[in-house]
Amino acid sequence: MSHRPPYRCGAARGVTAAWIPAVCTLLTALTAGGSPLVPDPEVFLEKYGYLHQDNHIHDAAEMQSAISDFQWLSRLPITGELDSATLRQMAEPRCGVSDEVSQQIWAHRVNSILTGKGSAVRHRRRRSVKAEKWYKRHLTYQIVNWPRHLSVSSVRLAVQAAFQLWSNVSGLVFQEALEGPADIRLAFYDGDHNDGSSNAFDGPGGTLAHAFLPRRGEAHFDIAERWTLNGHKGHNLFIVTAHEIGHTLGLEHSPVRHALMSPYYRKLGRSLVLSWDDIIAVQQLYGKPSGDRPVRLPGQVLHATLHEWESTELHSGHQTAGQPLYCQGVFDAITMDHNKTVLVFRGSVYWTVSAENGVKGPLPLRQRWSDLPPAIEAAAFSPLDSKWYFFKGKRMWRYTGSVLDPSFPRKSSELGLPHHPDCAFFYAPLGHMVVFKGSRYSVLNLQTLHQEPYYPRRLTDWTGVPQGTNGALTRPDGRLYLFREQRFWRFDPIKVRVTREGQWAKDLSWTGCSNAPQGNNIL
Ligand SMILES: *[C@@H]1O[C@H](CO)[C@@H](O)[C@H](O)[C@H]1NC(C)=O
Ligand SMILES: *[C@@H]1O[C@H](CO)[C@@H](O)[C@H](O)[C@H]1NC(C)=O
Ligand SMILES: [Zn+2]
Ligand SMILES: [Zn+2]
Repeated sequence: MSHRPPYRCGAARGVTAAWIPAVCTLLTALTAGGSPLVPDPEVFLEKYGYLHQDNHIHDAAEMQSAISDFQWLSRLPITGELDSATLRQMAEPRCGVSDEVSQQIWAHRVNSILTGKGSAVRHRRRRSVKAEKWYKRHLTYQIVNWPRHLSVSSVRLAVQAAFQLWSNVSGLVFQEALEGPADIRLAFYDGDHNDGSSNAFDGPGGTLAHAFLPRRGEAHFDIAERWTLNGHKGHNLFIVTAHEIGHTLGLEHSPVRHALMSPYYRKLGRSLVLSWDDIIAVQQLYGKPSGDRPVRLPGQVLHATLHEWESTELHSGHQTAGQPLYCQGVFDAITMDHNKTVLVFRGSVYWTVSAENGVKGPLPLRQRWSDLPPAIEAAAFSPLDSKWYFFKGKRMWRYTGSVLDPSFPRKSSELGLPHHPDCAFFYAPLGHMVVFKGSRYSVLNLQTLHQEPYYPRRLTDWTGVPQGTNGALTRPDGRLYLFREQRFWRFDPIKVRVTREGQWAKDLSWTGCSNAPQGNNIL
């Protein structure tokens, strides 16, 4: 799984309506196999406003100038050629609103800051662009409906924080309107949702969200996405909402690398969520906050807060449709212990599923494995040594029962393992632990705690297994099950290929999600 969820905006600049439908579509640039889509450079440059779309043939000079502009905006060495760095940048996850207007608006912004002449900003085209804005400072918003994988209250808090990001640094005030009309409406939709077939959502992956410039006041999110508020896997609803709100306020994309309005997606990290450029942009439209100085929080602080909200929800045993929360397709890791009990991990909790006891949980992770951080990325119980292995970030934890083994956690790199693994499982045919990461897999010898020679190897050894799985386990019959979002793949170690595929929550009763009578799937 990619660490930076691909994030692409499909823009549409219509001319018929009163508002500018600068629709920002965020979609993943992953193919089903997980390799980045390499766009046709000419189509890309047209789409993002570097080449006119009206004339069909662009001559070499036009192409060179467009490529140079793109390189300038992307902070690449300006060669005017489609070199590998440029092509790689084009495949980067990004938002699709045309960069043409973004660049002009940014140039204008910078010019108005710099006194006098001598601004280094290059004007590509001279066409006056006026930013659309709201003519009032007090705006209401409404969450029209809810994503499936998160609780109502954590979504409400995340959306509130996303609006606060902007109101804390500007003259804007936001208020949630539970009912009735609202200026800005946020809604989760599936597939075609009546704003044009080009804006239709496309299920998990693909398009994530899009929003409209003022004063339409709408941001749409793909309900089929794996929305999360914490953890490494899935798409962070807070950061995507904050970016979309920026568009609903009238902000275009920023060429500043760490700006929230940068067309390139980034995760909620250590740095401040809003850059100076985001703040200047919103203040030029709506002024400074009254009273106090602007308040900005680093991503880390917000991350901790979001995490707190989600885990409070999880601990409260929130269920949807009578099923445990993880059944909606989101978990961090899965494994099976020596008692054939399946363990499902998510955030700071886990559930157990067994034939005798059914589903139990959510149970706090730290209560059983103290010192284990929340939102682990991979977990595997090894029947070889009866130990638990957990992976997160750059480290691996090993427990005997509930006791952390001495000298753990250890650095993955010391063990020859990748950072941020997709999943891990003990694989009896090899007698070792297998760790998947992207297009490769590693094999860890549990006795020596070293990677076996000749690894990592390519994932294609596992015929039919997709990249980016989020969990895997071996069932008592020796078959390996791999999970990615709502789907599963069953790998037969004798035939050495995938022999079954489906929806795990529906088809595999031993996951504790199917209400169907437990048939022969349970063993
Ligand atoms: C906004 O500012 C308040 C303090 O005025 C702070 O408590 C809150 O966390 C800030 N919110 C964000 C999202 O930065
Ligand atoms: C698992 O099996 C062990 C014996 O191997 C037993 O002591 C333990 O109670 C079992 N745990 C559960 C949760 O059933
Ligand atoms: Zn955008
Ligand atoms: Zn839409």
